[in-house]
Amino acid sequence: MREKVTTDMQTRLTTDMHTLYQHTRTVERTSWSSPWHLACLLGILSFLGSVTPLHVAPVTMGLRSSFSATRTNSILGGTQKAVTFNRLLVNAGSDFNPDTGHFRCRIPGAYYFSFTVGKYPEKMLSVILVKNGQEVQAMAYDDYKKKGRKVQSQSVMISLRAMDTVWLMLQDSPQHALYSTAGPYITFTGYLVYPDIPAPGYLNNHLSLPGQLYPNPNCLPPGDHRHGLSGSAKAPEEPRSAFSVARTSPVLGENGGGHQEKEPLTFDVEYVNIGAHFNKTSGRFTCRYPGAYYFAFTVGKHPHRAVSVKLMTGHGEVQAMVFDEDMSRRREMQSQSLLLPLRRGDTVWLYSQQDERYAIYSNQGRYTTFSGFLVYPDAEPTTTASQD
Ligand SMILES: *[C@@H]1O[C@H](CO)[C@@H](O)[C@H](O)[C@H]1NC(C)=O
Repeated sequence: MREKVTTDMQTRLTTDMHTLYQHTRTVERTSWSSPWHLACLLGILSFLGSVTPLHVAPVTMGLRSSFSATRTNSILGGTQKAVTFNRLLVNAGSDFNPDTGHFRCRIPGAYYFSFTVGKYPEKMLSVILVKNGQEVQAMAYDDYKKKGRKVQSQSVMISLRAMDTVWLMLQDSPQHALYSTAGPYITFTGYLVYPDIPAPGYLNNHLSLPGQLYPNPNCLPPGDHRHGLSGSAKAPEEPRSAFSVARTSPVLGENGGGHQEKEPLTFDVEYVNIGAHFNKTSGRFTCRYPGAYYFAFTVGKHPHRAVSVKLMTGHGEVQAMVFDEDMSRRREMQSQSLLLPLRRGDTVWLYSQQDERYAIYSNQGRYTTFSGFLVYPDAEPTTTASQD
């Protein structure tokens, strides 16, 4: 079944991309030193609509890295160090090795990783996303040793250099285990969001081409300034915006009279903050480029406390929330994610219920994380962004 799906997808991709790919390769071979040519060719092709349904900037052809893998059986703690995978759904760029479970960075940049793992009955769950074997990025945890099966999820965006490795580390003890079956509980996904290449405006390597609805002024031959661009005119600024942060300490709710401002949750670890649109001291993300943004957060449940955390915009409009009113001593997590259309100046933040029954748990394992990034800038000229 999976193979069928994968094949269909590949066929579709191949059909849609084949011509373009040939063009790209030709151009790469003949005149890569003149990216103007490539950008323009691709811009024209995308303007004609040939790649629009894929929502992939054609220039990403050479700068693609993404994988998604699943595992259809359980792992008992102490038997292996890394979570490995027996089903590979996507592996663009072949940077992921399912047999070792290791992702090895080929293209330096900011990558988004997310994973979900199943908790084995009567065992504890503890899986850490690690970089280069030891640097803890974030964890999925559940110490509820009862019979029930469940899943826990986590996600972060991190910055990688070439050869950095990222994988899921298992707790090396027989009290821990991961559960999965043919309907896989265990999944691991990662993809390049922003490559670190020196990014002139005409090489837009993000997931969409904001300029695709109008002719790209950079497609004027060098030196041709018919459209009023002076020789010093800058290429349009590439809209980039992404943040990913974590907490390393708990937050205990307090009864505070009830009518004070809803204070955002703040963070002390910053993985990425591209554009510096997130202020970890205030806990607020402020939109600079209008568009559709993806947000994801995971919060740890504190022993003997409930969890209630809301994703807020503006002055406290609730967009999504997580909730867990289990008051037992166990620690676990809750995750949530969505896309939001934002206008310039909109703010996005997390609010944890200020009440002594509620709390958030985190420690150096980084249970509590918050990430967001621009997926599609609004299709309008972005040159105005450079005016401030
Ligand atoms: C971040 O937020 C803090 C607290 O609200 C504020 O003092 C600081 O000026 C902000 N930083 C920036 C760069 O806006």
